Amino acid sequence: MTAAETWLSVFEARRKRFATLPKCEPRKYHEQMKATVQAVREGRVKLRPPRLRMRPQPRPTSWRLTRARTPRWQGGHGRGRGASAARAGPTDGGGDGDGEGDPPAATAAARKGHRDQRLAAIEKQSGSGESLSTGKRYPVIYADPPWQYQAGTTDSTRRIENQYPTMCLDEIRGLRVCGRSIAELATDTAILYMWAPSPKLAEAMTVVESWGFVYRTCLVWVKPTIGPGYWARQRHEMLLVATRGSMPTPLPPTRPDSVIEAPRGRHSQKPAVVYELIERCWPSLAKVELFARMARDGWDRWGLEAPGSGVVP
Ligand SMILES: C[S@@+](CC[C@H](N)C(=O)[O-])C[C@H]1O[C@@H](n2cnc3c(N)ncnc32)[C@H](O)[C@@H]1O
Repeated sequence: MTAAETWLSVFEARRKRFATLPKCEPRKYHEQMKATVQAVREGRVKLRPPRLRMRPQPRPTSWRLTRARTPRWQGGHGRGRGASAARAGPTDGGGDGDGEGDPPAATAAARKGHRDQRLAAIEKQSGSGESLSTGKRYPVIYADPPWQYQAGTTDSTRRIENQYPTMCLDEIRGLRVCGRSIAELATDTAILYMWAPSPKLAEAMTVVESWGFVYRTCLVWVKPTIGPGYWARQRHEMLLVATRGSMPTPLPPTRPDSVIEAPRGRHSQKPAVVYELIERCWPSLAKVELFARMARDGWDRWGLEAPGSGVVP
């Protein structure tokens, strides 16, 4: 058998194999192969020496990537959904690569080990033994800034300032906590949960950026009763989620519903379930609440009305 015949037989074998596969890409490949074999038979194209060795494939770094690269006809998601989800990373927006289906047990264990290592490294950045006032850094920051409203209500009894002092945007953006900026207060890898009433959404995004975070997603607190509002009577508030560094996403079973349905409390009071959902996601990481008004076990707190925080604004 000549080299050309050998190569032809390889072509034939491949063509036959792909012909048995259904639909899409294999069909196209099959057509091309058929045309090539025909052209070789008729001597219209010359055969080049066979390159039987496959190009080395990059080693998959995780089960997620492996799955993303599995062709659609082999039961994977092809380069569409899975691949784009893998590229997008943990940014939310529908695809975070952790979709349905279970990874093989060994890979799942490896992923868990890798995630635990990342969390342990984040914990280390925090500086155990320190406190808020002595340089402790926090991977989880929860903030509810005292937003200032320019177009205040004409009804002076309903002004926010009757409840607590407010801060202008520049003050919030340049916030310092115990002499440190938020970028210094946060660990290099950290997550920020920040409340943003809808009229303050655009300003809140600039705060996220000034504090050194990148916006990822938001949750919405849907309240049972309608409140005031100039353009729309407000019945919801947003909890922005932003990260810095390479923060892992919460484990799938702990990921919160993006809608929080909870009753209103006193003026500006946020539902306690929010503490719970953050604790569920990040049980081992140090947490601080900025502009707190109450104490919560396991959390450090800071704010004019935070019990024992000793704030001197
Ligand atoms: C929107 S409220 C926080 C409400 C809180 N999340 C709750 O659930 O009860 C804002 C808080 O920031 C406090 N605050 C206002 N100005 C401050 C400042 N310059 N420094 C620290 N805290 C301040 C207010 O006293 C108020 O307690």
